[in-house]
Amino acid sequence: MINSIPKYRKVMLVATLVATGVVLASCENMQSKSSAAPAAGKMSIQAMTEMAMGNMKKIMMLSSQDRQAYVMKTQQDSMKHGESLFASASLGSNGFTCSTCHPGGKTTGGKVPMGKMEMAIPSLVGVAATFPKFKPGNDAVITLAEMNNNCVVMFMKGQPIPLGSSNARDLAFFITNLSKNVPLTPGKQSMEM
Ligand code: HEC
Repeated sequence: MINSIPKYRKVMLVATLVATGVVLASCENMQSKSSAAPAAGKMSIQAMTEMAMGNMKKIMMLSSQDRQAYVMKTQQDSMKHGESLFASASLGSNGFTCSTCHPGGKTTGGKVPMGKMEMAIPSLVGVAATFPKFKPGNDAVITLAEMNNNCVVMFMKGQPIPLGSSNARDLAFFITNLSKNVPLTPGKQSMEM
């Protein structure tokens, strides 16, 4: 049934799904780690400002040593969480994980069928340094987190991860870490267009 949908329709479908995720997700941008925080969409600017001030105060009150330890631990936790998401089939519905195609952040070297086309699976090493960039499936310049969602939707048959959620951030953090010391080249296209 999917194959009876013309290709451009499929691309539009994916773009719409991703765009829906973006709109939904932007309501969650100010979400704090605490589940006690009210849903951000319903928060006033004042409440969001107060939350940010409260967070800063909490962190600045720590001794410099404790502060460093806190930052390190928060970042390590984020990285570990991103790594576990990368290996988790729960992001999709077809049993695939990111590592199915990008094992160890690299590539199986295989191709994925997309309608009548085939797409080579890229290694993700150095890739974060090329974002934001244009992607044909979105017909727009997109961020790394949005690209991760393209794969979630198209290749793992999952709902897009809400942008600004800790899942989206932690996955992007893990993938960005695969571009350590790579000079930024935003917009650089790796495939022939
Ligand atoms: C079924 C195989 C498959 C799975 C599973 C998969 N990907 Fe991909 N990935 C691809 C293919 C094919 C491309 C090339 C598509 C493109 O660049 O538009 C790609 C491209 C990418 C890119 C952009 C590379 C570039 O050079 O622009 C990123 C980032 C990425 N994948 C991350 C992920 C993440 C994160 C996951 C898990 C949430 C994931 N992928 C799951 C096949 C897969």
